[in-house]
Amino acid sequence: MAESWALAVDEQEAAAESLGGLQIKEKEKEEKPKAEANGTAKPEEEGEKQDEEDKEDKAAQSLLNKLIRSNLVNTTNQVEVLQRDPNSPLYSVKSFEELRLKPQLLQGVYAMGFNRPSKIQENALPMMLAEPVCVPSGSSPQNLIAQSQSGTGKTAAFVLAMLSHVDASRKWPQCLCVSPTYELALQTGKVIEQMGTFYPEVKLAYAIRGNKLDRGMKIQEQIVIGTPGTVLDWCAKLRFIDPKKIMVFVLDEADVMIATQGHQDQSIRIQRLLPQNCQMLLFSATFEDSVWRFAQRIVPDPNIIKLKREEETLDTIKQYYVLCNCKEEKFTALCNIYGAITIAQAMIFCHTRKTAGWLAGELSREGHQVALLSGEMMVEQRAAVIDRFRDGKEKVLVTTNVCARGIDVEQVSVVINFDLPVDRDGNPDNETYLHRIGRTGRFGKRGLAVNMVDSKHSMNILNRIQDHFNKKIEKLNTDDLDEIEKIAN
Ligand SMILES: Nc1ncnc2c1ncn2[C@@H]1O[C@H](COP(=O)(O)OP(=O)(O)OP(=O)(O)O)[C@@H](O)[C@H]1O
Ligand SMILES: [Mg+2]
Repeated sequence: MAESWALAVDEQEAAAESLGGLQIKEKEKEEKPKAEANGTAKPEEEGEKQDEEDKEDKAAQSLLNKLIRSNLVNTTNQVEVLQRDPNSPLYSVKSFEELRLKPQLLQGVYAMGFNRPSKIQENALPMMLAEPVCVPSGSSPQNLIAQSQSGTGKTAAFVLAMLSHVDASRKWPQCLCVSPTYELALQTGKVIEQMGTFYPEVKLAYAIRGNKLDRGMKIQEQIVIGTPGTVLDWCAKLRFIDPKKIMVFVLDEADVMIATQGHQDQSIRIQRLLPQNCQMLLFSATFEDSVWRFAQRIVPDPNIIKLKREEETLDTIKQYYVLCNCKEEKFTALCNIYGAITIAQAMIFCHTRKTAGWLAGELSREGHQVALLSGEMMVEQRAAVIDRFRDGKEKVLVTTNVCARGIDVEQVSVVINFDLPVDRDGNPDNETYLHRIGRTGRFGKRGLAVNMVDSKHSMNILNRIQDHFNKKIEKLNTDDLDEIEKIAN
């Protein structure tokens, strides 16, 4: 396995290198945002300095509206209806019992309030659990590359696989799970802890920034969750983990973990340390075609679960766009939306930290409880911001792409793309778009995604996103309160 991965990567890198020089030159000239360790864009100078003008106070109006209307969607009934609809990604014919989980894990699943598996759980679990995990060298284990829509329960699928495979009597890491961001690693860690509540012999270690261990120590926990940089350090430099004893390697958000512009270098270096017969499990809601092909080359004999393009978007998430001319107009449109509908919680995505900071300031001046999260913040701060948002202490989270993937906050009923997602070359970033809007509409809930368009260029980006998913994004006139109200019902 190591060889095939290495070979594929070398070829890919060689191909990319011939283009690399050109790209760098262009970047210097145009001062495009550079990639950061966590994959988000660094702030660019936006040039103009905005005077802080007083906005019409819509906060009172918004509050009034909230008092008279309530629009919170979710009910467990809705989930049950969907789970019986064969066209829903939540549909399954099997029960968790039929998936033959260990009794301790079944207990954990039910304690989390899960009644039946989703489609991805029903399909992926039997493949992942098929014995034997550890096969003789030379032949491949039950590897899997799996795609399933946002919010359909991929986490539980791979967490149950890891918890099923560990030998609790062995006091060393056997399963390794890597996530692209600190926040996501923490969140997934919590799911592992919750699912493992009734299996206390299995322990979990967090390989994330800020978690300092004494030199020379060996980790005894059977499962390790972390971000690529720290995981690599723990395996290679610090040797807290013996990578040769890892039996299951999970890449969540796998497409960004193996893409050249993502975390490819670190993922490859981790993977090269693992034994040949280690099971590889790759999960994501999106796999761009070239990344999909690459995934198939680096994972030997994979089982495959893939969505058709038209299945990628969830019908439960309604998508709209608003036409504006500048960021101030986008802000006014945002206030109008807040004035017209009740928003349980919202996530607002900006392209740069600078815009995110500006917007958070404006929103709090309007009386909103706003949280701001971007990649350069200290890890403790980042964890605290997410926790407070999850607890509903702040209702609005303004952020950059650092929170586009995986974050699961049930109450998020609206996602706003204050800036549309574009890649380094200014082309539409379809995958990020899907991940961003997928922060709402989790596990069968309804969600609303609103895109702010502020130029001909961004209209073009929006059109290309529409074409890509073959899904109409409707126009919304935010000056018409009735119209906004209608879309929320
Ligand atoms: N079988 C189930 N029954 C009920 N709820 C479930 C079930 N499986 C998962 N969930 C819930 O669904 C929500 C979304 O799950 P999860 O975060 O794993 O989605 P995901 O597929 O990883 O999405 P993303 O692509 O956005 O990362 C979680 O709150 C989780 O607790
Ligand atoms: Mg996920």
